[in-house]
Amino acid sequence: MSQQDRSSLPTRYGVIGKPISHSKSPAIHTVFAQQTKQALTYAAFEVEEAELEAFVREFFAGGGGGLNVTAPHKQGVFALAQVTTPRASLARAANTLYLDAKGHLVGDNTDGAGLLGDLAQNHGVKIAGKRLLMLGAGGATRGVLAAIADLPAAERPATITVANRTLEKAEALVTDFAGKLSVTASSYAQAGETCYDILINGTSAGFGGELPPLSPAALGEGCCCYDMMYSSQQTAFQAWALSHGAALAPDGLGMLVGQAAEAFFVWRGVRPETESVIASLR
Ligand code: ATR
Repeated sequence: MSQQDRSSLPTRYGVIGKPISHSKSPAIHTVFAQQTKQALTYAAFEVEEAELEAFVREFFAGGGGGLNVTAPHKQGVFALAQVTTPRASLARAANTLYLDAKGHLVGDNTDGAGLLGDLAQNHGVKIAGKRLLMLGAGGATRGVLAAIADLPAAERPATITVANRTLEKAEALVTDFAGKLSVTASSYAQAGETCYDILINGTSAGFGGELPPLSPAALGEGCCCYDMMYSSQQTAFQAWALSHGAALAPDGLGMLVGQAAEAFFVWRGVRPETESVIASLR
């Protein structure tokens, strides 16, 4: 898309969620717009579940160009979308909305691509050929696996294991990804009997300051432990990983900026640089 083509794009964007006042998305997209010389506005909207459909409808009817979606609405907007991208369908959740050329509401999911971009570009971690362990079998893990399923086979990990407290949930995920991505479901006890190169914490355990019940024996030499959560301090998972010999343990701030960059690319056709934006948010 040329700069001239972009001048005909809509200019109003935003993020919806509840609560939303803490959101860093307006600051991130404002910097992206400056960096890529795009004229647009980006605001945060607190939206109740009961008003979700009406809000989304009115936003786009009023000329809005795109919405990001955060908790608790990612599943709700996925159900509202008339068209869903393959990565949103596999994740069963959408974090990015826009209208296609026919005026249909499209639900996309850029969370997993944001994480993979952060790993590769900002931490120099390649997932190709590696042994990957995903902790948790909820929406966060589904989003990451959906992005991996989008990659050519040669760029995927050699093995993908999903460990979850409730084994049936990991098994249901494996069934949903069948034919798209080869994944093995595991208990934490079983996962602790093998070594991995990349471990990604997609559980919500950290919200209560807890750790997934994994043995440190799962940490392969020189491994990367990525926490999808972020906080102003080191998370419990980062501290655990580093104290047990992980070579690096990034938090999810880079993923947050990465998913925003990917959404910006979907809307505007230009991919902003993320490293300086992450640094400015620290
Ligand atoms: P999200 O959409 O953020 O992934 P979710 O779908 O509610 O949220 O999933 C939360 C995940 O965190 C689940 O895999 C959950 O495990 P269970 O399926 O066994 O409930 C996991 N989780 C939450 N608290 C945890 C804890 N203290 N230890 C380990 N796993 C935990």
